[in-house]
Amino acid sequence: MALTIIKGTILSASALGKLDVTPGGYLVAEEGIITGVYPVLPEQFSGAPVEDFGDALILQSFADLHLHAPQYPMLGMGMDLPLLDWLNAYAFPTEARFADTDYARDVYRRLARELVENGTTRVCMFSSLHRPATLILMEKLEKAGVTGYVGKVNMDRNNVPGLLEETTEESRRETLQWLEACTSFPHIKPMLTPRFIPSCSEELLAFLGRLAAERNLPIQSHLSENQAEVELVSSLHPDCAQYWEAYAKYGLWNERTVMAHCVWSDERERQAMKEAGVTVVHCADSNQNICSGVAPVRTMLQEGLRVALGSDIAGGDHLHMFDVVAASIRASKARRILDGWETDFLTVPEGWYLGTSAGAAFFGDAPGFAPGNPLHAIALADDSLPCPHPLTAAERLERCVYTRQQGAIRAVWSAGRKVYSGT
Ligand code: GUN
Ligand code: FE
Repeated sequence: MALTIIKGTILSASALGKLDVTPGGYLVAEEGIITGVYPVLPEQFSGAPVEDFGDALILQSFADLHLHAPQYPMLGMGMDLPLLDWLNAYAFPTEARFADTDYARDVYRRLARELVENGTTRVCMFSSLHRPATLILMEKLEKAGVTGYVGKVNMDRNNVPGLLEETTEESRRETLQWLEACTSFPHIKPMLTPRFIPSCSEELLAFLGRLAAERNLPIQSHLSENQAEVELVSSLHPDCAQYWEAYAKYGLWNERTVMAHCVWSDERERQAMKEAGVTVVHCADSNQNICSGVAPVRTMLQEGLRVALGSDIAGGDHLHMFDVVAASIRASKARRILDGWETDFLTVPEGWYLGTSAGAAFFGDAPGFAPGNPLHAIALADDSLPCPHPLTAAERLERCVYTRQQGAIRAVWSAGRKVYSGT
């Protein structure tokens, strides 16, 4: 690994809405950690091998902060029901298949490869409730070169008994056994994953909250995605004035928490996220597909919340983050219309920041290709697109976001390692 020097048009999102471009530049990493981006190769590296990608764009790779691995087999299907019915009709029966470890092995190997080949190198990912399949998922991600967090899902009530549900005792036991069994993966770590408030008993939520505190574990779940869900939570937890309070009450609400959706979070709920340092994961495709709504992302950003992006497959129908970035920009335009043209939509550099730097921040990175960050990058050749007149690097990026080209990714680095090399 020692020294990596990548040459190309280097572009990174160093702040929300800001792109740093170094044409013909050098991105240098030592022992997998970025040293810097240089317009001219510093003397100390002269003579070292350079991977020259010509005019290709050298970009940060993506962070997908919310997706459901066991919903990969239903990608692009079953979008004709709202959330709670959709879970029962499609998501739960699909996830139930992962009791079969051979099936899990096959699906998860494909998923891990597809993620890496399309430039997603960091994830916060839901597995199913099955411990063996969750360990297989972690193994396949590790092997393919994906980094980040995976959670065995906890769900002990309001699910489908006999198909996809565990008892409280099983959920506790399986979670502890899973945590013991998954310590050997260097790049894939466990994350506690109560599916969402309606799926978990109070006893289970309390257990998970204690576990998170004792072992300093991160937490992922869903929040205020859909109006019927919000009402259900309110009826299940009448002592909580708002949805988020049911997480907070059980110790599942802190700066290591990621909450998907937050479509219906009002100002008070958003303030609670800001104060606790919770990261919101915006999942624009999913919110549209299962008729959840349009999250107020611009308002969240203005209020100073941490916001990143998620594909949320298979509520979302796009795994590739170029599409997810484009969807978040489109959703912000719908939000602008709904807001009476009072809120600004996201620009492409802003969308790009959310899909890269904002997600990487959850893993402790500074924005962009900052020195000290682990090397997570892609080399993207857009030369198959027509280019009758010269384009700026920002224009090239915009075109790639909207018209993702199959095979345009030439190489991917994850945590310093080259994990994909295309043609
Ligand atoms: N809320 C609880 N489970 C799920 C899920 O699998 N997908 C989505 N979009 N929302 C959820
Ligand atoms: Fe989800």
